[in-house]
Amino acid sequence: MSGISENYERKCRIMGFPIQERRRLEGILLDSFEGWYLRHSLKKLYQIKDVFAALYDDTPVGVAMLEELSEELSYLFYIAVAKDFRRKGVASQLLEYCISYSVSKNKKELYAATERDNEPSIALFEKHGFSRISFSEFINRYGFARAIEMYAKMVVVPGEILLVRKL
Ligand SMILES: CC(C)(COP(=O)(O)OP(=O)(O)OC[C@H]1O[C@@H](n2cnc3c(N)ncnc32)[C@H](O)[C@@H]1OP(=O)(O)O)[C@@H](O)C(=O)NCCC(=O)NCCS
Repeated sequence: MSGISENYERKCRIMGFPIQERRRLEGILLDSFEGWYLRHSLKKLYQIKDVFAALYDDTPVGVAMLEELSEELSYLFYIAVAKDFRRKGVASQLLEYCISYSVSKNKKELYAATERDNEPSIALFEKHGFSRISFSEFINRYGFARAIEMYAKMVVVPGEILLVRKL
C-alpha cells in the first residue's frame, strides 16, 4: 500500500511506507534483529509491497511487513519496535492494523512465524488471537505440496513455530 492510512489511537500513527522512504525504517530492524534475521529483514524491507510503520510525531518507532500468501491468506513477515518504545502498545497497534488491512483485502487467515524461545513475540501474537499450528495440522489443512510451498515462504530459520489467526 503506498497511500497513507492513519490511525491516531494512543498517539501512534500507522501508515503504509513507500519503498523510497524505507531507509528510515532500517534503524528499527538494526535495533531488533541480529545475524541472519537482520540481513533477511533488511532485504525483505525493500521486497515486500505492504510495509507499515508506526510513528510518534514524525519518528518511525515500529515496522510490520505483510505479505500475500494466496487469495485467502496473509503472512506477517516481520514486526519490530525500536527498543526505547517497547511495552507501550506499538506492536499491538501495528498488529491490529495488519489484521484490519487483511480483512479489507478479503483474507480469511493471517499467519506468522517466530522463534520457539521468543517469548515477547509469542505473547504478543497470543494476546491478539493467534494460536499455534503444528506442521502436521498445516499439512492436513492445505495438503502436502501446498503446505511445503507455503512453509518455505514463511519460515526463515528451521524450527520456528507457526501461528495463525482467523479473520
Ligand atoms: C515483540 C515486539 C515486536 C513487541 O513490541 P511492543 O511494542 O513492545 O509490544 P506491545 O507493547 O504492543 O505488547 C503487547 C503484548 O505483547 C506481549 N509482550 C510484549 N513484550 C513482551 C515482553 N518483553 N515479555 C513478555 N511479553 C511481552 C505482552 O503480552 C504485551 O501485552 P501487555 O503489555 O498488556 O502485557 C518487540 O519486543 C520487538 O521488536 N522484539 C524484537 C523483534 C521481534 O522479535 N519481532 C517478532 C518476530 S518477527
